[in-house]
Formats: sequence, C-alpha cells, structure tokens
Amino acid sequence: MNKGKYYITTPIYYPSGNPHIGHCYTTVACDTIARFKRLEGYDVMFLTGTDEHGVKIEQKAKEKGITPKEYVDPIVANFKKLWETMDISYDRFIRTTDEYHVKSVQKIFKKLYDKGHIYKGEYTGKYCTPCESFWTESQLDENGCCPDCHRPVVDAHEEAYFLKISAYADKIEKFLTESDYLQPKSRVNEMINNFIKPGLEDLCVSRTSFTWGIPVEFDPKHVVYVWIDALTNYISALGYENDEYNDFEKYWPADLHMTAKEIVRFHSIVWPIMLMMLDLPLPKHLYGHGWINFNGQKMSKSIGNVIDPFVLAERYGSDSVRYQILRDMPYGSDSNFSNEIMISRINTDLANSLGNLVSRTVAMADKYFGGTLPTDREPAEIDNELINMAKSLCGNVSPLIEEAQLSKALEEIFKVITRANKYIDETEPWVLGKDESRKARLATVLYNLLDTIRICSGLLYAFMPKTMPKVWEQIGAEKSATEYDTLGKFGVLPANVTVHKGEALFPRIDAEKEIDELNKLIAPQKTIREDEDLDKANIINIDQFGEVKLRSGEITACEKVKKSKKLLKLTVDDGRNGRQIVSGIANWYEPEDLIGKKIVFVANLAPAKLCGELSEGMILACDAGDDDVRVLFLDKDVPNGSTIR
Ligand code: ME8
Ligand code: MG
Repeated sequence: MNKGKYYITTPIYYPSGNPHIGHCYTTVACDTIARFKRLEGYDVMFLTGTDEHGVKIEQKAKEKGITPKEYVDPIVANFKKLWETMDISYDRFIRTTDEYHVKSVQKIFKKLYDKGHIYKGEYTGKYCTPCESFWTESQLDENGCCPDCHRPVVDAHEEAYFLKISAYADKIEKFLTESDYLQPKSRVNEMINNFIKPGLEDLCVSRTSFTWGIPVEFDPKHVVYVWIDALTNYISALGYENDEYNDFEKYWPADLHMTAKEIVRFHSIVWPIMLMMLDLPLPKHLYGHGWINFNGQKMSKSIGNVIDPFVLAERYGSDSVRYQILRDMPYGSDSNFSNEIMISRINTDLANSLGNLVSRTVAMADKYFGGTLPTDREPAEIDNELINMAKSLCGNVSPLIEEAQLSKALEEIFKVITRANKYIDETEPWVLGKDESRKARLATVLYNLLDTIRICSGLLYAFMPKTMPKVWEQIGAEKSATEYDTLGKFGVLPANVTVHKGEALFPRIDAEKEIDELNKLIAPQKTIREDEDLDKANIINIDQFGEVKLRSGEITACEKVKKSKKLLKLTVDDGRNGRQIVSGIANWYEPEDLIGKKIVFVANLAPAKLCGELSEGMILACDAGDDDVRVLFLDKDVPNGSTIR
C-alpha cells in the first residue's frame, strides 16, 4: 500500500576527522525512521552525505601537504564504510564536491542575488574557524570566544556578499511559533530569544580569504559561505537547479530534517528564510536532538578514537550499538555514553529480556511439541492482558516514531517483552508440559508468546535490521506475517506454526572481563595518531623554536576573573618588574592551589586583553586527557626569570 512520500535527512557531516558514535546517533535515528516509514508503506527518500568545503578542511589539508580533496576522500570513504557496518539504508549520499551540487549552489546564489536578497558589502566581525561561523561581538561568550564551541575567534574584515535575512525576522518568528516545524517545542523559544529578538543581522555568505569552496559564478574571487553551500544539499540532492536528479517535485518539502542542537540555528532560521526567498515550500519538521556526552563532555574527534564505533559494532554487533544509542537518548536532551552503559543495556534488555524470551519460547515449543504446535486451544482469562498489550503496541509505537521519540518507542516495545516474560512465569509451561491433559493449554500459551514475539520483532525490525530476520526464522514467521498491517493484529501466525531453534540472538557479556579487554584495546589508540601526523607535517627548525622565549616565574597572587568562569588572573614574579598573566585554567585550579608555585611562561607573546584583563604572556599547561588540564610546575629552587630552552 502506498501512503505517499517521506523525505528524511541527516546533516551532511564534515569529513574533518573520522566518524564517531555521535554521528552514528543521528544517522541511526534517521535510518530507523526511514525503515519504519518504508514498513508503513511510504515511498521513502533517505539522504545523508558529507560537507566538504570550508577553511577548516583547507587548513587541515595544508598541514598534511595534500589537496583538500585528497584529504577528504579517505574520510568520506570511512563514513560510507561505517554506514555499511551500521546497516544504514540511505537512498542517496551527497558530497558537496559533487559537480551537480556545485551547479545548484551557484545557480541558487545567483537567483538570490538577482532577486535582491543578496548584496555586496564589507564584513567586519569575528570568525570561529573550527565552527566556520561568523559572530558579532555581542554574540561572543563571556570570554570573548565562540558561543558554540568556546574556542577563540579571530577578527575578520573583507569584501563580502550578505544575505538579507534581517528583512525576514517577522516572517521567521511567525513560522517558528505558528507551525510545528521545530521540535522539541522548547527550542523555539531558545531560537527566538537568543537570535531573533536581539535583532536578526544579515548573514555574510561569501569569503575571499580562502579558496576551498564553491566560487560565486559572477564574482569568482568569492567562495560561497560553507553553510549556504551545505544547507542547499537538501534540495540539490533531489535535482533542484541541476540535471543529475529529477526528484524535486516528488519529494520536496522534506518531512523531517534531523540534526543535533548546535546546528538548529542554521536549520530553523537561515534555511527556512533561504527557502522563503526562493519561493519554495518549507520543510515540515526539524528535530533537534541532544548530544551524546562522554564524561559530561560532548563526544568529539579525540574521544571518538577511544570509543570507535567500528570496534563497538565488531564486538557487540551493529544492532546492539544501534539499540543502545537510541534507547539511552532521551527526547530532546543529552545522553551519556560509557562502555559500562553499553554493556549493561545489551545484557539487561537484549540478552535477558528479548533474547531469553525468544530462546525460552522456541526451546519449549521444540521440547514439548517437536517444533510444531498442535492446533487444539484452551484460552484463559490470564491471556487477555498480554494479547491486548501486543495488539495495541503497533498503534502506540507508530506515532512515537513519527515524532522521532525513538527511546520512548523502544520503551513501549520492551514493556510488552517484559510482560511476555512475566506471562511465562505466570503460566508455568514447564508444569503444563508434564501433564498430557494440558497440551491444548500449553499450545495456547506458546502460541500467544510466539505471536507476541512476532509483533515485537516486526516493530523492532526498523531498529535492529540484522537480528529481527533471525527472530522470524526462529519463530517460524513468514515475510507476510511481519508486514505492517499484520502488526496491529493478534493471531497471525498459523495455528500449527513450526519453530526453528537457533543461536542465542544476543550473547551475554561478562562485563568485568569485557571492560578489561576494552581498556587494553583502547590504550594504544589513546596516543592520538592524527596529532603525530600533524607534528610531522609541521616541522620547524631550531631558529624558529628560539623565537619563542620561555621563562620561569613564580605565582605571587592569583584570583578569579570576575566576568568569566574559565579565567584566572595570575601575578607572576618574572625576575624583572613582574607581570600579569590571564590563564583559562579556572576549571582545574583554585587560586590558592597556585600561589607560591613556579611555572613556565611564554615571555614574548603579544599582550592581549581577556575579559577586560591585560595578559602579558601565557603559562604552559598540558592536556592530560579526558577534559583534564595540568599546569607545568618547576622545582622550588629555580630562579625566577631564567631562560628555558
Ligand atoms: O555540523 N551527539 O557537521 P558535523 C549527538 N557540516 N550527535 C552528534 C554528536 C554528539 N556528540 N556529534 C556530532 C556539521 N553529532 C555541518 C552540518 S548540515 C546542512 C551541515 C551529529 O560533522 C549531530 O547530528 O559537525 C550533529 O548535528 C552533527 O553530527 C554535526 O556534524
Ligand atoms: Mg559541528
């Protein structure tokens, strides 16, 4: 049955480092929804891809002495490999370096210019290189850093094109408040209060200071701002303004864009405004989910090395990884990842609840009836609760999936699985099995269990596409008994169904042993190889090193910088007149920890003002791993102001 079209997208990811479990979350969530929609009978277009332009990629490639394309190609291949490992059923994979996409972006830029939505001006402001984001002074955080990633920003002035989004402030506010585009609803106020109410400023949409981007066709010293390039992927991939595809009429507008919260701003403000300017229909929903955190910190590339999704999938199977990340992400808020959480989910939900239910049921059908149920029945009152729960499950789960409430959907399914396990305890089939006169009752109990498993596994297929066909094989369910329309009905398996004993679906993991092994496995990876490669690509000679003047000093006074959570103000005896140094170490050190300590500082660094405080130099500290920083301290007897070389 064709229910119409459903177009769903992930963000297109930066191939600036290998994919990690955070990227898996959005992609697996979209895949699950796409699979479920296909099951429901929709004609699904599921798009993912990579966002390959921008100064960040250009810089990384330069550091390695290769072209940007040479830099991204193997990383893109790695993304694709991960999606294959994770059973991602995308219909299309777009790379922003694809020729057809480049064409679309150029045409759209020209169209917006011709319509007067883009004008030429001068850009002055702050730029966060890692995030590829422009900010105004007022948007910076309390340390004068990027409000998203809290890293330093740089000054930028250049001739640039601007997108007149200021003219759309009222329209976008109306759209966000009156439609149910942005989910969860709480993010609407966040967007309005943080970005629209303070005054929507025109967006700088071209750069001249680097070349790795799509040239503006009519002014090629400009490249198109990477976010305009990136957002366009959602329509270029359908063939809008290019000849590669012809699916725009059919699939646009998108039914669901999914992203994590840090890029909701671009997807809820800039993107709908661009579409309004182009007179195109607006997408129906945007779901901005939370982050997977690791030790309270957003999962990022360096942490990604420690929790490699390839390793997890290899050790536990991709379905277990899919299950855990979806199950543990609460709707709209963050989740925490640890190997312990992963193992405990697998053991509790998958091995104990689901795995046991299937293996016990199939084993009993095998033991008492040689695998094929007899057709005599003896129903009892106690059956009804389970049957009713199983029958209404599909109706409860479908709307949750429509709303991207995947954790909740899994919770509902596992309630029925738990109920079925309890039903085994209540009905005691092993007692029935000893009594020849109870055979019809025993067959009824086992049938009810098998048909409940059929419904649950049918609904779980979208979440765990590798394992559920194995369940169907074990419970003797034909393909037709797992189709969507049968999942809301009870009693679909044939009365004389035949089961097939199989292997354990989810072997139990010995948690302690596993954690030990993981630690051994992870240890060699912890020396982050990417950094070493960068070191080799950035060789300097002794004279260059000599330009950095390092000296010893003693901290004689120290206090917190008032307007900042991160900064400490140090008074340093430098063996001369003394100096003040501001350092971003307040997270790790209290002022009293530092007074009297000898440190190393960069003596010839250009002075700078941080949160209004003068800083003359920088003290040396090391990144000590997971969100930990240690200052380099010197022996007590080192004289202040000594040269360090
Ligand atoms: O932002 N937890 O790309 P990106 C959950 N190219 N999701 C996470 C995550 C985490 N810890 N880390 C990453 C870009 N993600 C742009 C997008 S779209 C037109 C352009 C997921 O490689 C999440 O979906 O930085 C997040 O929004 C996305 O990766 C960011 O990927
Ligand atoms: Mg990002």
